[in-house]
Amino acid sequence: MQGYYQFISKDLFNRELFKDVKILKIGGSVITNKDKYRSVNREAIVNIAKVLGDFPEPLILVHGAGSFGHNKSLEFGLDMPGKVRGKEIEISTVINDVLSLNSIISDALAAEGFRGVSLPTHAIYGNNGPDLDIIEEMLRNTFSPIMYGDIIIQNGNYRIISGDEIILDMARKFRPEEIIFATDVDGLYSSDPKEYSNAKFYRDVKASELNIKDKGKDATGSMTGKVEKIKLMLPFTRKVMIVNGMFPERLRKALNDEDTIGTVVH
Ligand code: ADP
Ligand code: IPE
Repeated sequence: MQGYYQFISKDLFNRELFKDVKILKIGGSVITNKDKYRSVNREAIVNIAKVLGDFPEPLILVHGAGSFGHNKSLEFGLDMPGKVRGKEIEISTVINDVLSLNSIISDALAAEGFRGVSLPTHAIYGNNGPDLDIIEEMLRNTFSPIMYGDIIIQNGNYRIISGDEIILDMARKFRPEEIIFATDVDGLYSSDPKEYSNAKFYRDVKASELNIKDKGKDATGSMTGKVEKIKLMLPFTRKVMIVNGMFPERLRKALNDEDTIGTVVH
């Protein structure tokens, strides 16, 4: 860890200093029970925290909102962007809910010795996008920034930002070595494995050949939204992998670049 951060000069930034950075998205489907408002999956959170607490390298960590975000966003009709005016109470309810989830996650991570610092997404995304200097400074000081799916306010308008979109912004800037998505299924299939028992599992797939169309039950497009973002982030990283976050050992292996069950997207 120390050796990794030995170059502190701002001039040496980017490719060299951050070349080993990995980005991990922990899906809301893993850390919450998506059908039940503000219900957490405590066991999954603790198991993932143990893996991350042991992981020696810096990470950019992003988590989803799950039932702390989607349920009320859909109920309040916030899934389409719009003017803040008239929706203030609804927006602040969702922002506070996802912040509560973030503090549950941060507490669990801290208990396992993870050097995370929460950067609430709504507070670091200004009118012109994310404040990348703060994120960079956290990494430079050996902290792992933690962001999450949230609602952001830009020029009087609100919009939901998914964890997947945040990752795309981070990938563009930091060119991570690897991007890992932990979700509640083993990886990508030819169709939704929860609905189609004959869905074919992909261990390895070319993004250009993917045409995933799920029913997009949540406020950010579910797996379809994720795959669209993955296609855009591929040029900025060596590897994108989707693993089942309910199996901490798979996540550990993916983080260590060891072979495990999951889908590698090229
Ligand atoms: P997360 O909350 O982990 O970011 P989502 O809930 O947005 O993830 O998406 C994961 C869900 O996508 C899975 O629970 C699965 O049921 C669904 N899904 C739909 N189509 C597919 C597919 N082709 N392959 C894998 N999962 C799919
Ligand atoms: C959704 O974030 C944010 C809100 C609904 C406020 P994500 O799209 O990253 O959440 P998950 O992973 O699907 O739960």
